[in-house]
Amino acid sequence: MSHEEFPTDRPAVVTCGLPYANGDLHIGHLRTYVGGDVLSRALRTVGQQTAFVCGSDMHGTPIAVQAIEENTDPESFALAWHEQYQETFPQFDVDFDNFGHTHDDTNRELTYEFVDALESEGYVYEDEVLVAWDPADDQPLPDRYVEGTCPYCGEQARGDECDEGCGRHLEPGEIEDPVSAISGNPAEYRERTHKFFRVSDLAEYLSGFLDRLEGTANARNQPRQWIEEGLQDWCITRDLDWGFDYPGEEDLVLYVWVDAPIEYVASTRQYSERVGSDTYDWEAVWKADGVVEAASETGDADEGDPSDAGGEIVHIIGQDIIQHHTIFWPAMLHVADYAEPRAVVASGFMNLDGDAFSTSRNRAIWAREFLEEGFPPDTLRYYLTTVGGFQDEIDFSWDRFAERVNGELVGNVGNFAYRSLLFAHRNYGGTPDADLSAEVRERIADAVEAFQAAVNDYSTREATQAAVDLAGFGNEYIQRHEPWNLDEDEAAPVIRDCVQLAKAVAVLIAPATPDTARRLWDQLGEDGDVADATLDAALEAPPAEFDAPEELFTKVEDERIEKLNAKLDDRVETVGEEGAADDGETESDETDGDDDGDMAYEPLADERISFDDFEDVDIRVGHVEDAEPIEDSDKLVRLDVDIGVETRQVVAGIKQLHDVDSLPGTDVVVLANLEKAELFGYESDGMVLAAGEEANLLTTHGDAEPGTKIR
Ligand code: 2FM
Ligand code: ZN
Repeated sequence: MSHEEFPTDRPAVVTCGLPYANGDLHIGHLRTYVGGDVLSRALRTVGQQTAFVCGSDMHGTPIAVQAIEENTDPESFALAWHEQYQETFPQFDVDFDNFGHTHDDTNRELTYEFVDALESEGYVYEDEVLVAWDPADDQPLPDRYVEGTCPYCGEQARGDECDEGCGRHLEPGEIEDPVSAISGNPAEYRERTHKFFRVSDLAEYLSGFLDRLEGTANARNQPRQWIEEGLQDWCITRDLDWGFDYPGEEDLVLYVWVDAPIEYVASTRQYSERVGSDTYDWEAVWKADGVVEAASETGDADEGDPSDAGGEIVHIIGQDIIQHHTIFWPAMLHVADYAEPRAVVASGFMNLDGDAFSTSRNRAIWAREFLEEGFPPDTLRYYLTTVGGFQDEIDFSWDRFAERVNGELVGNVGNFAYRSLLFAHRNYGGTPDADLSAEVRERIADAVEAFQAAVNDYSTREATQAAVDLAGFGNEYIQRHEPWNLDEDEAAPVIRDCVQLAKAVAVLIAPATPDTARRLWDQLGEDGDVADATLDAALEAPPAEFDAPEELFTKVEDERIEKLNAKLDDRVETVGEEGAADDGETESDETDGDDDGDMAYEPLADERISFDDFEDVDIRVGHVEDAEPIEDSDKLVRLDVDIGVETRQVVAGIKQLHDVDSLPGTDVVVLANLEKAELFGYESDGMVLAAGEEANLLTTHGDAEPGTKIR
């Protein structure tokens, strides 16, 4: 691949797949938008000039069909949702520099410019196609107006996409056994004249483009296969009343997928026009300005590299729309002499507690609902960013949410920042006057390097992990040096180190949890906004004075999670399977609909650890000597566990799943060198390992004595 590392001296734009303006957002939708927001912030942190843009997708049958159902016109219907999205995204700190919509004048103007280019370059031709038609209502049935069987894989599909099977884009006339999605009437095919974009002529260009393309592997692999199988030309018009009219054709509108991605350009342009092109120049990002053509005329191979044109265009999308972003869209850009995307970053699906989200069954956690529960948006942002790699299928459950918030945000990041800043404030009124140790300087430099590498890899998860690991190091460091047992002078360098670590954590975690980082930044007495800080700031000295800190995060209590789980179960049961209409969304492809134990496995970790890392994990055979329930807790049990060398007190969340009285005498497996934690006032010195929803306790068989190391 021929791209320079970030930051480059060309402007970047990060875009997110445009949401169809036709319904409420749930936390599954937010995955892509949070991903885009975190990436654009992280790019700015490494010093890359970046705009972050998006908009509402107002055209097409998804809108038209629903407007009919709601007895309104598509424009007012879509605008109302558009306004709601404009409010919702900032509530999650998803801060687009511009959030336009596809029905506005900027997009209209640019769309016609693109269509002109396709026409004048000779890439458009007319052909007869079979259009599904409802004979009873005498109405054409484009795209989502028609449902039937996918000709490629035999699964149930809608007119424009095999959303439940192979994921292919379907051309008009391809779907078998068509039925109207509006009336349920069997449909027939009628012949109509439509416009086609000769994409098949661009196979060679697209192959080269895919070789240059960065981002997630799924965004390159699928389209390579499609090209190998032979590209079909693309029908770019529809028999529909809603959309941009095709120039010179009264009865045809442009297919929604033509003007939708052009909104990426339109939205960037609107941003550029608002801030001025001296500050951000949309044309420097999007225009190829003949670089490729000129080069092929001069025969200069180097100049002919299309990645030399324009800026750094990064598309963040769901994996169901890879084909549109890696075949149709770059083909349009190429013909219209626009720059090509540098990266397409495609997310995997997201499940809810092991099963698909279903908006029609209300089996979802709505964005608004999450906020109404009073959880800070940063907690969801953190979860979505770190629970799996971007390309992995991930799962949300309230239990896992609480686990990550309590373990990583409260127990690690929040704990480290609070204890360091409190000690610093109480004893020195701020950052003590001492030199930063070489060990901590190096550790911060390593974290900065890991963050930088993660950004070049488009891995927001790894970038965030760099911050969390640094906080983990901070906790270990303060524990190792025990400043509370030192006098003021001896403790000063330790605390100086800790405050610096806290500042570096603020800089590196800011993309994922911007509000928390902002508060930590203020607590450190820093000026300005941490969002404007770049990587250098991680090693710049923190202010000498600051006030007493406040806790950054609040623990999510078990009782709360029980209630939320019950609420979700209740709601899904109330709606029931029978009343459930298919909501037509591609929400997961991994469940088969029956309740036979489908399980969403947590994605495998991206990275291998070395054998040395494994050796650092001290796992022992233990023998439970005593067990007693912790009174105020629904789940926790206090155990005395003999691990050979000594007997440890361990607190485990297994009360509801085990008969506590029968636990003594059980052999268990104990993670012995886990950080100590305090739970309900009891110190837990180790962790008893268990698997699954029933917390099956791991054990050993045969003669392994307590204290035996597990390898
Ligand atoms: O699939 C969808 O939800 C579309 N609205 C995405 C459009 S993204 C783009 F290219 F504009
Ligand atoms: Zn299919």
